[in-house]
Amino acid sequence: MNQSSLSPSTAAQAMARWATFAVLLAVVVIMLGAWTRLVHAGLGCPDWPGCYGFLTVPQSESSIAVANARFPDTPVDVEKGWPEMIHRYAAGTLGLVVFGLAAYAVRHRRTGVPVKLPLFIAGFILLQGAFGMWTVTLKLWPQVVALHLLGGFTTLSLLTLLTLRLRGRARQKADREPPSTGLAGFRPWLYGGLLLVVLQVALGAWTAANYAAVACTDLPTCQGQWWPEEMDFRHGFDVAQHVGPNYLGGQLTADGRVAIHVTHRLGAVVVLVYFVALLALMWRRIGDSGLDNAIRLVAVVLSVQVLLGLANVVFHIPLSIAVAHNAMGAGLLLSVIHLIWQHQLLPKAQNATATHTTTMNQEVTA
Ligand code: HEM
Repeated sequence: MNQSSLSPSTAAQAMARWATFAVLLAVVVIMLGAWTRLVHAGLGCPDWPGCYGFLTVPQSESSIAVANARFPDTPVDVEKGWPEMIHRYAAGTLGLVVFGLAAYAVRHRRTGVPVKLPLFIAGFILLQGAFGMWTVTLKLWPQVVALHLLGGFTTLSLLTLLTLRLRGRARQKADREPPSTGLAGFRPWLYGGLLLVVLQVALGAWTAANYAAVACTDLPTCQGQWWPEEMDFRHGFDVAQHVGPNYLGGQLTADGRVAIHVTHRLGAVVVLVYFVALLALMWRRIGDSGLDNAIRLVAVVLSVQVLLGLANVVFHIPLSIAVAHNAMGAGLLLSVIHLIWQHQLLPKAQNATATHTTTMNQEVTA
């Protein structure tokens, strides 16, 4: 369609629909990534982007023979190949949607739709694809696995931001009620909360990438101790570990893994205490700001996430709970971004009202 034939809100609405779809797809891709890791299929295909040089997992006897001749050290395991390839197909589809969004934004830039953000996301997803490749070629090197997970969460967050911007534009947010609360001062505390969640997600990613989930199997203690004596933080957080030979199952000592696991638990306590205090203080001043649902959402998602983390330990990392814990980590990040976004609109609406009133007064006076 010719760009001039679209009104600004029609272009924003169409793009918002695709951006929402991209958000949902990104959640699916992230969950598929966790599933792939949890069923130990991260090296299900030893090459990239194909699988043993094929477009799909080799299944027939002849193609398996060809594949095994190409990669004699890693014989075909069809059950491990499929999770890896399904994750790649979904990620590839997401890449296409993101490129489509960027192309649409450039084409309809005169309608005022955001352009820089979708272009940035398109560039970022290429980087994320490269991390996907290095995950395989560097044989699950924990640094790369953790950064790949963080990259997935970043892609999701950026797409959510794009969706919020587009939906705000399409809805002409000027019709919001002006707030009558003292919530403006909470902005730095909300950003502080976001930083804590990002750090906690990074710790979770490090726990998962180093297979430190089963380092502590009891709760609330770890190996029967509140502060296990044998913890080795230097080893557990040595980000300069050497590459290879193969990190499937993890290479760290037990003491290093205990240190990682305990740090992730402590991180959860910090995040929980911080948000309980922050959300309670915000709730007391909520007035008619309209932030109640955004605050409730963070509270519910955080509670579910902590319960899933505890269930992970109690039930020894069942697949469904571990995947849900990963997804809810993403959900927590998004709910906090959503709260910050809603909060950002408050002072703007206030300013808008003030400016509008001043302009009207000037017009009346004139
Ligand atoms: C604010 C709360 C929390 C957040 C945001 C969070 C986030 C995460 C993330 C993003 C992962 C990586 C998941 C993956 O790669 O599949 C993870 C892993 C993990 N988390 Fe949490 N977590 C939280 C609380 C907890 C709590 C309270 C516990 C238990 C006491 C816990 C136990 C674990 C374990 C055992 C893993 C490793 C699971 C695996 O290897 O698949 N988490 N966490």
